[in-house]
Amino acid sequence: MEVIVVSDATEIGGIAADAISALLERKPDAVLGLATGSSPVAVYDELARRCDAGRVSFRQARGFILDEYVGLPAEHPQRYRNVIDAAFVNRVDFGPGAVDGPDGTAADLPAACAAYEDAIRAAGGVNLQILGIGTDGHIAFNEPGSSLASRTRIKTLTRQTRTDNARFFGDDLDAVPTHCLTQGLATILDARHVILLATGRHKAEAVHHLVEGAVSAMWPATILQHHPHVTVLLDDAAARRLQLVDYYRETYRAKPDWQGI
Ligand code: GLP
Repeated sequence: MEVIVVSDATEIGGIAADAISALLERKPDAVLGLATGSSPVAVYDELARRCDAGRVSFRQARGFILDEYVGLPAEHPQRYRNVIDAAFVNRVDFGPGAVDGPDGTAADLPAACAAYEDAIRAAGGVNLQILGIGTDGHIAFNEPGSSLASRTRIKTLTRQTRTDNARFFGDDLDAVPTHCLTQGLATILDARHVILLATGRHKAEAVHHLVEGAVSAMWPATILQHHPHVTVLLDDAAARRLQLVDYYRETYRAKPDWQGI
């Protein structure tokens, strides 16, 4: 696990955008794993700027969204499908139908989950997965107690996650769905490179467990310690509880530019 601590979200966005641009240069038909939430906003903004400037293209790329609420109508602005379209997909040059997400409106939800796993596999798997982290250590919507071997499935959201996300629903906790579909932890581990982004003091405890804690279903993100290629991009506030923070900083300072992440 490579841990990179920089000063702010803009710098994090630049580093992640560099990795995505380099991947698309090497492999224009790469498959990207896309996260919603506020953490990746700076990355998507930077990629939209680069795409406008003709420096990167998503024309041949594919995308898979991590998770989706169950029970929101198709046109609801907080449906993750609509969120990711507005935040990223519609701002760059993806082809029609290139980005897929779990179908939270399906009549048969387990079948929709199985179909989603099949679709990711049929696309050749995810080359680069962008991830955020919840304050309770969830990734995608794999809440504490999630099976470390889980695949895409239905989950019940914790009160903490629903409270965290109420800001997107006019601060009305009752308006936040109680259920979701989410890629499982094993689904996420199949991605070849995982880039996790976290900013702010409120993420410091989850980041502490992710990077330096014991692997446990109680802090689901810790399963990433078993992945061979994870990059964790943090601002100073999110890194404040890391014991080895000086070592991570020194290591990154000494890293040759050509190496990438
Ligand atoms: C949400 C999403 C996650 C996201 C996380 C953190 O509930 N399901 O995919 O990474 O919580 O969100 P944010 O980046 O807004 O802090």
